[in-house]
Amino acid sequence: MTERTLVLIKPDGVERGLVGDIISRIERKGLTLVALELKTADDAVARGHYAEHEGKPFYPSLLEFITSGPLVAAVLEGDRAVAAFRQIAGGTDPVEKAVPGTIRADFALNTQYNLVHGSDSPESAEREIALWFPGLSG
Ligand code: TYD
Ligand code: MG
Repeated sequence: MTERTLVLIKPDGVERGLVGDIISRIERKGLTLVALELKTADDAVARGHYAEHEGKPFYPSLLEFITSGPLVAAVLEGDRAVAAFRQIAGGTDPVEKAVPGTIRADFALNTQYNLVHGSDSPESAEREIALWFPGLSG
């Protein structure tokens, strides 16, 4: 089923020069880029994006990190795009959960600095796309 997902290459990915490699993996998977932009998240966007994590111990450092520098925001489209991107991203903990061959396992060491975000459901994707790309039509 064709759907859309919201992806971020977080500030660590931009800082480390991994944007090209990550976009290449997205393209090789067969997902289509619908929107792609370098942005810097302000506090309001960061809080909206990570609202589900408010109150958790890692929330303050997560907000600080995601607003710390430029990131790449993208909308991807394709068959089961939400699950497909999370498959190539790998699990949240890049060492204990992500399996080799995924973005997080191959390039990250630490859960906070795990390089990428991908929406966790079509409903989250719709909400996150509206937050990051308010002008994008369905
Ligand atoms: P979460 O939505 O659980 O993971 P995912 O990005 O795989 O959907 O958490 C959001 C981000 O918060 C996660 O990518 C990295 C950060 N985080 C921590 O820093 N520590 C933690 O213990 C967890 C669970 C997440
Ligand atoms: Mg999540």
